[in-house]
Formats: sequence, C-alpha cells, structure tokens
Amino acid sequence: ADALRVALAGLGTVGGGVIRLLDTNRDLITRRAGRPIEVVAVSARDRTKDRGVDLSRFDWVDDTAALATHEKADVVVELIGGSDGPALTLARNTLAAGRGFVTANKAMLAHHGLELAQKAEGAGVPLKFEAAVAGGIPVIKGLREGAAANVISNVYGILNGTCNFILSKMEAEGRDFAEVLAEAQALGYAEADPSFDIDGVDAAHKLSILAAIAFGTQPAFDDVAISGIRHVLAADIAEAAALGYRVRLVGVGEAGPHGLFQRVHPHLIPLDHPLAHVTGSTNAVVAQGNFVGRLLFQGAGAGDGPTASAVVADLIDIARGEFGPAFAMPAASLVQEKPADAGER
Ligand code: NDP
Ligand code: HSE
Repeated sequence: ADALRVALAGLGTVGGGVIRLLDTNRDLITRRAGRPIEVVAVSARDRTKDRGVDLSRFDWVDDTAALATHEKADVVVELIGGSDGPALTLARNTLAAGRGFVTANKAMLAHHGLELAQKAEGAGVPLKFEAAVAGGIPVIKGLREGAAANVISNVYGILNGTCNFILSKMEAEGRDFAEVLAEAQALGYAEADPSFDIDGVDAAHKLSILAAIAFGTQPAFDDVAISGIRHVLAADIAEAAALGYRVRLVGVGEAGPHGLFQRVHPHLIPLDHPLAHVTGSTNAVVAQGNFVGRLLFQGAGAGDGPTASAVVADLIDIARGEFGPAFAMPAASLVQEKPADAGER
C-alpha cells in the first residue's frame, strides 16, 4: 500500500524522538499501520544543528508554514510548541489544505482547540493530539474511545512531569527547587518557558483538554483556577510527610449541578491514595465513569520516547483511516460548560 507521508515541523526533544521511533520500529509500525509511515520533509529553526539523526534523506524546508502544502506530504506533525505563532499558522494552513494534523501542543489546543476541531471536521480530515496530555499515556484514546459510553463525574490527575519530578526529588533528596528544575530541563521534560510548568499553566492546558474529552464540553482554559508549585518549600513537603501526606500538583475537573469546575493546585495526598506513589516525571489520570467505575491511567508523562510513542500512535490511526472527531463528539455538539448530569457518585 502507499506510504503515509509525513511533514514534520520541530526537531527538538519530541521531533527527534519521532524520527528515532519510526526508524527503530519501522517494520512493526508498517505492519500495524497497514502501510509504511515515512517522514518526507522536515523543518526547524536551525538547519545546521546536529540532532543525532540523519536528516539528509528528508526535504529540508526553511519556511515552516510551507509544510502545510508540501507536495509530497499527506499529513503534518507539529512539534514546535507555543499557543500561537508558527504552530497555529501551520495548523490552520494544514487543515485549510485538507490535510490531517497531529500535534503535541497542549497550549495551542487549550486556546484554539475548538476552532481547529471545527476546521478539521469541516475538511473531513483528522486532528489528533494524544501526546498533548500526559505524554506517553494513551489517556485521550482511553477516555474518548474506551470510556465513551460513560457519564464521567470527575477526572483528575498529575499532569505535569516537570513538577512531579521536582516535588519527588525535593521530598526524597531534600534538594533545592532551582537545582532540580535545571535537571528536569536537561532531561527534556520542561517547556521552553519553564514557568509554564512550575506555575501550573501547562497542567491547566492539559486539564482543559482532558475535561473537554471527559465531559463533552469545549476546552475552557480561561475557566481553570490555577496555582503552581513555585512557593512550595522543602519544609512544607517534610511537614506533610510527617502527617502522612505527599504534596502533588493535581488538576481536577468535576461535573456539578452548576457546570464544570476545573482547578490546578498543589494537593496534600494521603499515602493510601495511588497518586501519592506517582514519582519522577510519571503522570497519572483518574476518571470516574457511571458504568466503568474508577479508571487509573499511569505512565511516563514527558520525555522524548514516551511522547514520540503517542505521536506515532496517532499517525498509525491515520494510516489505518481510523479517526473520529477531535474531542468527545463533533465540535458543533460540544457544550460550553454544562456537562451531562453525573447523578449519584
Ligand atoms: P523543543 O524545544 O525541544 O523543540 C522545539 C522544536 O521546534 C525545535 O526543533 C525548534 O527548532 C523548533 N522551533 C522552535 N521555534 C520555531 C519556529 N519559529 N519555526 C520553526 N521551528 C521552530 O520542544 P519539545 O520537543 O520538548 O516540545 C515540542 C512540543 O511538544 C511542544 O508543544 C511541547 O509542549 C510538546 N510536548 C513536549 C513534551 C516533552 O516531554 N518535551 C511532552 C509532551 C508534549 P531548533 O531545534 O532549530 O531550535
Ligand atoms: N513540560 C511538560 C511536563 C511536558 O513537564 O509535563 C509534557 O507535556
């Protein structure tokens, strides 16, 4: 069968991971996708940078926006980042050109997800973003498809690997905040602007996407109440530990009689709760459905390999022709903020 031909924008932590994964697992991916998945064109800022992968086999495109209409490509993968700017231009142009779009960019989806979903559905092409929430954990697919028959009453979890890494290291090693943040940055977990991580904004971006999937609502980032971990001290963590708690940055989405509540802030988690045992850059998401009961998804929330795993899973779905609406249901039927009544909990 004809290959699915991919134009790849962004060759950093995640973009490099995608090329390595497609190279390493090529045969298996071809069998599962039913056809080869081939990167044909790439773009980033600096053509001369050594990225540890052979790029000479791909067309290099200086103007990232031009990937949207690259003559050889069927779909575009965006791994640049940023809610607006080149990522958003590329998304709009790609969907306008009637091509599928895959992204890990939760900031862009939190702010423009509804518009992009409408454009994708209008053009009849896929918009996929498994990597945008909780890195390698297939939580978008799990909630959108696996739990699709349920009324979800709440969804919550550890959604930022950088913060969880920092909190766990501060706790286990009594280390200094700034020093541990530098380590998370070196490991490729942090956002280009790490204040998005430590101030809770990245977790809020993800929560707004997750809530949209869980509750059939539109992403509503502006409604998320946010506080981060910047002011959490090693002494706070030690005091919580003495009382039998761990400190975790948790995002919570709850459907109530008056609408949807979304908030991100540091929580005290009792030691008998599974989230207390999620350490390092691991993420975990809990969702409560009225027929399935409690679901727990856990796995690597950041880093090149796990995030690439989610991006390539989206490409495999597209190669098979398996894709539905971007969020829980067609964009036109997503409600603004009044999810289905979850009834008794
Ligand atoms: P990096 O900073 O490592 O890579 C970004 C890439 O985008 C670089 O190759 C950079 O080019 C390129 N780029 C930046 N600005 C431009 C521009 N104006 N025009 C063209 N190319 C540009 O980021 P990550 O790989 O970590 O993240 C990519 C996306 O994935 C983001 O949306 C992020 O939020 C998301 N994500 C990241 C995860 C992670 O663990 N890192 C996990 C889940 C999602 P150059 O290399 O030449 O500088
Ligand atoms: N900066 C993000 C995090 C990357 O630390 O979780 C994964 O989305």
